[in-house]
Amino acid sequence: MSYLLALDQGTSSSRSIVFDRDGHIVAMAQREFRQLYPQPGWVEHDPRELWDSQRATAQQVLARLGAEARAIAALGITNQRETTVVWERASGAPIYNAIVWQDRRTEPICAALRAAGWEPLVQDKTGLRLDPYFSGTKLKWILDHVPHARSRAQRGELAFGTVDSWLIWQLTGGRVHATDVSNAARTLLFNVRDNRWDEELLRVLDIPAELLPAVYPSSHPYGEVAAGVLGEYGPRGLPIAGVAGDQQAALFGQACFRPGLAKNTYGTGCFMLMHTGARFQPSDNGLLTTSAAQPSTERAYALEGSVFVGGAVVQWLRDGLRAIATSAEVESLAASVPDAAGVMFVPAFTGLGAPYWQPQARGAIVGLTRGTTVAHIARAAVESIAFQSAALLQAMSRDAEAGGAGPVAELRVDGGASANNLLMQFQADLLGIPVVRPQVIETTALGVAYLAGLQSGVYRSLDEIAALWRQERRFWPTLPRSQAEALMARWEHAVRQATAP
Ligand code: G3P
Repeated sequence: MSYLLALDQGTSSSRSIVFDRDGHIVAMAQREFRQLYPQPGWVEHDPRELWDSQRATAQQVLARLGAEARAIAALGITNQRETTVVWERASGAPIYNAIVWQDRRTEPICAALRAAGWEPLVQDKTGLRLDPYFSGTKLKWILDHVPHARSRAQRGELAFGTVDSWLIWQLTGGRVHATDVSNAARTLLFNVRDNRWDEELLRVLDIPAELLPAVYPSSHPYGEVAAGVLGEYGPRGLPIAGVAGDQQAALFGQACFRPGLAKNTYGTGCFMLMHTGARFQPSDNGLLTTSAAQPSTERAYALEGSVFVGGAVVQWLRDGLRAIATSAEVESLAASVPDAAGVMFVPAFTGLGAPYWQPQARGAIVGLTRGTTVAHIARAAVESIAFQSAALLQAMSRDAEAGGAGPVAELRVDGGASANNLLMQFQADLLGIPVVRPQVIETTALGVAYLAGLQSGVYRSLDEIAALWRQERRFWPTLPRSQAEALMARWEHAVRQATAP
């Protein structure tokens, strides 16, 4: 029996999961680390804590397996994307904290680049927008602010990486400096049409090429874990065979390999991706174009949209409004009323992302009456997750049809809040297509385990992996379309109220 070890380095915790070849979880460990907020709008992680927490969880699962750990054929890495680390090649020491994807400090850099007219070129080459979300301006900020960083980078003394590169460096004892296409695609520096770092973009952002990692497909022999790094039970010469950004890994773990197949991950935020095949397809509807996980040198792309406040709205009900004591209570409170009684909740706490891109928008609860109760507000909060996701899927379907594919036929779901049946049913009702929850909702880790398994010969084809995907529950739409459309129209009206000056 072959096992695969997936390291999943996320925004709030590091996890390690061992899967068997049927995709079942054999062992799992998780550890949190500190979130650093040095100034309003800034978010940092200590890169050493990312590595220490990741290594600790890997050692934990390996120790749990004991002698069976020898059955692990390969290791895969999946990670929070865009988060930016710069370290010294000689010592391995970071020169600054990791600047996290959520960090907004580089908005002035983005604004200056937009004003100088660079956005169309950036969009055409990278599929992204000039937004602080992506790595390029974070890297520029570090080079601009850490004394001597740019000249040291020019001399080849420093290395840049997203979190996958940082972990590969640590795992291989500093021998390998590499990333995969799906992570490189989030940097603003990578031309996703021809899969290479782009000299013009490097010049625009003033980034020395000497900093950059080598870029490989998502299934690739990246290197071997150095002796002793994973402790006493670490298998000797364990190959690192799969790497992918977490959202692309989840798309892969959901077996969305064909154009038109889409997944939505319901976490703190929501990330929806739809595979678009081997063709770079720009969005006319406010979405990003990004590289999907690429198991070979063949190109694969996806359209992506994200909801900034998804499950986080439930945290706000708990910690801000104190309407519930635990997050799990939200489902029963929301289910205690038949509907939201006309209340609409737009949780634009940090602006609105795709397809609206309204950074100045702020949260709004509208449609209150004397009869409104906390249960109606809880229900509206849960429904807001589905409304925002439905707006993304509508944009995706419009892009898909413009690109010659049919509309999206079903939505595969994962992430913590996908366990909320009320939310999933409402999602299906709004979308008018089935919402399908798989048996394994750890699809991020599973996806990169599959990628590593393809490289190491555990799987021979995508068809073999697709056959392992099993549904746990299918939510069929029950609402007449006219009612769903009326609800969406009311949602859009509420969004306009939240974005009005
Ligand atoms: O783009 C950011 C995304 O990769 C973060 O995912 O799951 O760590 O919040 P997560």
